[in-house]
Amino acid sequence: MVHNMISLSSENKLFSGGYRDVYQHPLDEKLLIKVMNTSRWERKSRFQKKYLYHYFFTKVFVRETAEYIRLQFRDNLESDFIQSIIGFCHTNLGFGLIVKAELSQTGEYAKTLQHLVDTKQINSEVNHHLKILLEKILATSVIISDLNLKNIVYAYNRNDKSYQFILIDGIGDKTFIPVQNIFPFIRKYCKSKYTRKIKEIINQSDANT
Ligand SMILES: Nc1ncnc2c1ncn2[C@@H]1O[C@H](COP(=O)(O)OP(=O)(O)O)[C@@H](O)[C@H]1O
Ligand SMILES: [Mg+2]
Repeated sequence: MVHNMISLSSENKLFSGGYRDVYQHPLDEKLLIKVMNTSRWERKSRFQKKYLYHYFFTKVFVRETAEYIRLQFRDNLESDFIQSIIGFCHTNLGFGLIVKAELSQTGEYAKTLQHLVDTKQINSEVNHHLKILLEKILATSVIISDLNLKNIVYAYNRNDKSYQFILIDGIGDKTFIPVQNIFPFIRKYCKSKYTRKIKEIINQSDANT
């Protein structure tokens, strides 16, 4: 029996990503708990469930956490654009990753860049903050595996009294052989490809407004 099991219920569920469901921490509203969304595995074969399930689920969390820890030693101060990982927990829905909730100035959950694009909120200030994020991604050693618009949120930083974009997912090496980790030139190449893609999407959405 697991001690200190956190009970999550559908009322605490805030978001669903491609792989994980995101819940509000029932004991601290400034925190979120990310758990694997197992429903997408329901139709998989018994073999897949037995042999691939834990491998895949482990990878999702280990990739991100290992990269987060590596950055604390490598780029320490400059990694403020990555979501803060607070720890791990056991929940009734399985293993949980506890992270700091990124918020807007009014205390709502920070909106994704996808939302800002969809609702045509990309103005010169937002563009400026996005430019800063993309510059930081390129200037630091962070390894990016998935830079999509839903993995970037626009959060208010109370210390700086300013908004900034934060990566809340998609860090760490995804490939079986961690080529981005081994070869800095591949890491650079991937990051410039990803950041260029984001710029293209934003420019296109600008042109359409
Ligand atoms: N730290 C955070 N602060 C605020 N919102 C978040 C945070 N982490 C995740 N979210 C929200 O939850 C959604 C899904 O989270 P994500 O970690 O990307 O899940 P997945 O691994 O399934 O893609 C995000 O698109 C974002 O809207
Ligand atoms: Mg995601």
